Amino acid sequence: MTIGIVGAGQLGRMLALAGYPLGLDFLFLDRSADVPAAALAPVLAGTFTDRKLLRRLARRCEVLSFDWENISVPALRAATHGLRTRISPPLRALATGQDRLAEKRLFERLRIPTTRYAAVGSRSGLERACARIGLPGVLKTRRLGYDGKGQALIRKRADIAAAWDALGGVPLLYEEFIDFELEVSALGVRGRDDSEALYPLTRNWHAGGILRLSVAPWESAALERQARAHLRAVLRDFSYVGTLAIEFFVCKGRLVANELAPRVHNSGHWTIEGAVTSQFENHLRAVAGLPLGSTAACGHAAMVNLIGRMPPAAAVLAQPGVHLHDYGKSARPGRKLGHCTLVAPSADERDRRTRALLRALAVSLVRAP
Ligand SMILES: Nc1ncnc2c1ncn2[C@@H]1O[C@H](COP(=O)(O)OP(=O)(O)OP(=O)(O)O)[C@@H](O)[C@H]1O
Ligand SMILES: [Mg+2]
Repeated sequence: MTIGIVGAGQLGRMLALAGYPLGLDFLFLDRSADVPAAALAPVLAGTFTDRKLLRRLARRCEVLSFDWENISVPALRAATHGLRTRISPPLRALATGQDRLAEKRLFERLRIPTTRYAAVGSRSGLERACARIGLPGVLKTRRLGYDGKGQALIRKRADIAAAWDALGGVPLLYEEFIDFELEVSALGVRGRDDSEALYPLTRNWHAGGILRLSVAPWESAALERQARAHLRAVLRDFSYVGTLAIEFFVCKGRLVANELAPRVHNSGHWTIEGAVTSQFENHLRAVAGLPLGSTAACGHAAMVNLIGRMPPAAAVLAQPGVHLHDYGKSARPGRKLGHCTLVAPSADERDRRTRALLRALAVSLVRAP
């Protein structure tokens, strides 16, 4: 079976790495042939809205999936018109995941607590939103944001002008700033037969808007219960097929939904070595109509993102039990180039070894384990 994947970044690359043992084949589409997944499978190079190219991809695959959100829903729908090619995850989930306003409305409809927000379309609209929601707050582009890009923090009224100058001109969303205790993400997978498998809760640390560290399982029975209920509600509402992630702030012991990703997610990379079945393999099992694998943790995992510059491989691998994933990308400040993972027999040992790894990588994080 050939899986077509729109987007051939590191997520696509790790999907292919997980899929070959299952006997799956891959074909990618991306803007250039010089992309992380190109080392593993052919890449059709062109724009994401090129209907002819999408059609070529769809004709050659049983299932179409994607490794990032910012692709045209109508173009994808048109590409499979009249063909037996399935699209998984469903386009409704993709459309929601590409628009922060649609995400907020989904969370509200499913009674999943989320930040207070207002849609913003003009400078005066931003003034009104700040007055209604209050300060401080965060102004975000509704679409195309990632790794903290397309965001501006508004601490005081005097910041409004600069935030508007930086982001104005496209549809925006203003939301309250959450003084969170911590951030967690919930990751789950749903199969074509409606089966579900949810991973243990993951705790995340960001720096400069970019995920830096994840540890799992993050053991908190109360948070885990809320996360599972929210994740299930979203998976079922979309009649979802594949892996899905929801990011939450934890505020006064309660989960507040930040955003969702209708795909495999950076905070789930620990599952490659740290769970019985990785998020990548389970995504493929789901979209291919195969039984889902166990999402149980095999120990206590930590995943550190390698950002901007790759450390020497030997320096990472000299750390006992550490696994290195190099995405084969060229270095650029703020760019995710790889990650490394360790799995320990206890949470205490994981935290100790994580601190040593962060020191070796010269990464300092506020409130790190
Ligand atoms: N309303 C908020 N209050 C406090 N912190 C926030 C808020 N919104 C965003 N942040 C911080 O910025 C990070 C990135 O924000 P968000 O997840 O909205 O952006 P993104 O660019 O879509 O990121 P991703 O790379 O996860 O797609 C959050 O994980 C959080 O640390
Ligand atoms: Mg995020």
